Amino acid sequence: MEFSIKSTSPEKQRTACLVVGVHESRKLSPAATQIDQQAGGYLTDILRHGDMDGRLGSTCLLHKVPGTICERVLLVGLGRERDMNEKAYADASNAMLKALAGCGAADAAIYLIQTSVKGRDLAWNIEQLVIAAEASQYQPGKLKSKQDKSPSKLRKLTFGISDSQQQASAEAALAQGLAIGAGMSLAKMLGDLPGNVCTPTYLAGQAQALAKSHKLKCEVLDKKDIEKLGMGSFLSVAKGSRQPPKLVVLHHNGGKKGDKPIVLVGKGITFDAGGISLKPAAEMDEMKYDMCGAASVLGTLRAIAEMKLPLNVVGVIPTCENLPDGDANKPGDIVTSMSGQTIEILNTDAEGRLILCDALTYSERFEPAAVIDIATLTGACVIALGHHATGMFSNHDSLAREIEHAGTAAQDRVWRLPLWDDYQQQLDSNFADIANIGGRAGGSITAACFLSRFTKKYDWAHLDIAGTAWKSGKDKGSTGRPVPLLVHFLVKRAGRPK
Ligand code: BES
Ligand code: MN
Ligand code: ZN
Repeated sequence: MEFSIKSTSPEKQRTACLVVGVHESRKLSPAATQIDQQAGGYLTDILRHGDMDGRLGSTCLLHKVPGTICERVLLVGLGRERDMNEKAYADASNAMLKALAGCGAADAAIYLIQTSVKGRDLAWNIEQLVIAAEASQYQPGKLKSKQDKSPSKLRKLTFGISDSQQQASAEAALAQGLAIGAGMSLAKMLGDLPGNVCTPTYLAGQAQALAKSHKLKCEVLDKKDIEKLGMGSFLSVAKGSRQPPKLVVLHHNGGKKGDKPIVLVGKGITFDAGGISLKPAAEMDEMKYDMCGAASVLGTLRAIAEMKLPLNVVGVIPTCENLPDGDANKPGDIVTSMSGQTIEILNTDAEGRLILCDALTYSERFEPAAVIDIATLTGACVIALGHHATGMFSNHDSLAREIEHAGTAAQDRVWRLPLWDDYQQQLDSNFADIANIGGRAGGSITAACFLSRFTKKYDWAHLDIAGTAWKSGKDKGSTGRPVPLLVHFLVKRAGRPK
């Protein structure tokens, strides 16, 4: 999709479809009012006849409206003016995109972005609409022999702003929305691919392709390299699989040489059957999504590379499969992590922390400004927070606040959970330094406590995206989260005085 921004008044837009908003109780938006005046009250008449009541998400398509030079006018219902919040704006945007896709127009001029949304500004409206438009175009990898639906003709969206002084900030918002949209599409595409296609080797190949197209530096460490590093914990998970493990390291060097990087560590289990502690069969297919942390790291790096963000960022992705096998980890096995700490594996299905702990120790070498890991880590997080908020844990309060703010700004929210010492004892083992599970109580917290044993040397936050990375059921599919959150966090960091 192509996007542009113009400060042209609506009646002068030569377009296949002009889009304006209407509030409930037939209140026209300013752009709709302008059209109505040019058209001698044509829109007011239509509303009076009851064709459109402005209900949130309703639409009404008009042809050849007098006084305009556009082919069509699409009225989009915005609901009650005082209820216009983020969710209402998203609902109206999606209704508009659906109507546009269905009406046959190849381009559209959109004034909906001028809607005043509580607590938000024009830039935010533009960014969100661009992301929604990109998401509406998303199609999972072409694995069906016939396409589900014929693709829409819509190719070009022009955003109408009322004041040319807004041009620069509108352009910046458009660029950021496009970058986030592209990052989310990559994350979704990888997440939705099945485990037999998206193997650790495939994921590493995708990282290399991204590095090539976006001028990133990429290293892929193979099993031998991982052995040399002493990553006994990571390797113990990988050994039950015929697919070799990889450790992918990507660098975006947008900042000054010597500036400490932000390190993003993504869990890349391309399929999690649980290992010897085998998972039940129901919905096990969804464990192809167990690499969504890794996918979000790749998506975020794509976004910030497209934005040419002036910041140093490193992506670290440990990736392997977790399968039952004659050579797989067994409950009771004790392994030695790269940090030297020994781990008693009481449940082979708690494998995410086993691969992350070594990647977190490895991250020390970058002398990071901060490390954020992103992982579909625990079913318990879904029980605690459902599918709306990502679970967040941190050993550093101001870093935690930055992430909370980024999540709110990006409409990709997190909720902080405690990392108190009181929970640590649940990980005591009689035979090793630490056990890999801490019992049912506070399952996401003890998982984070496990990771905290490996992150003492830097500021760190952990994002448990088990509930937010994908949707189940009829709308099964990857969400692309938390790419928006991470991009917003990094953009703020890039602008912060060093
Ligand atoms: N990848 C899963 C977590 C998961 C499960 C995410 C279901 C989303 C939906 C993780 O590797 C796992 O299996 N965790 C176990 C940990 C337990 C054995 C302590 C879990 O959550 O059941
Ligand atoms: Mn597991
Ligand atoms: Zn897992």
